[in-house]
Amino acid sequence: MKRIVILASGSGSNAENIINYFKNSAVFKVVLVLSNKKDAKVLDRANRLGVSNGSFNRVDFSSSDTVLNILKENADYVILAGFLWKLPEAIVNAFPNKIINIHPALLPKYGGKGMYGMHVHEAVVANNEKESGITIHYVNENYDEGAIIFQESFEVLPTDTAEDVANKIHTLEYKNFPKVIEKVMLENG
Ligand code: GRF
Repeated sequence: MKRIVILASGSGSNAENIINYFKNSAVFKVVLVLSNKKDAKVLDRANRLGVSNGSFNRVDFSSSDTVLNILKENADYVILAGFLWKLPEAIVNAFPNKIINIHPALLPKYGGKGMYGMHVHEAVVANNEKESGITIHYVNENYDEGAIIFQESFEVLPTDTAEDVANKIHTLEYKNFPKVIEKVMLENG
């Protein structure tokens, strides 16, 4: 059994999709959902789906080993699904090639500090980009810079708003993220 722990900061629709994808698997299981926000909607989703969950603060995450130890005890893979804090080096180093993030743009474009959520899609529309897409990548200690595992793009129409782009992104994320996670776990063990 490979145990997945999801870190998420917000709504958690990707987290829910991943939990559902693996719910009947005999070999992969989402065992825990953790958030840096105690009122994040992702925790309500985890409760509803019967997945253990909890929240942590800055000290737990960055200046003590609290979260590191929870992850070491519970996770074979750590999945970042809309998680907004930069990972401390100790966590990155404890899980080489075992931490996977999804970014709602075609990295290396529209990555880095401040490029999250609607900011990404607003920038894509403001720059009249002809395409956008999703990037699934390993996590290293720099924002959005780990090795890319998977990308898929779509056409941005001249009439698309940032909300339209966000919707197209979510559709691609739901379709691909769980499958890519599964493939990585099958290939990397
Ligand atoms: C997703 O678009 C993800 O790519 C980005 O944040 C969004 C999270 O959405 N990093 P949700 O919380 O899974 O609904």
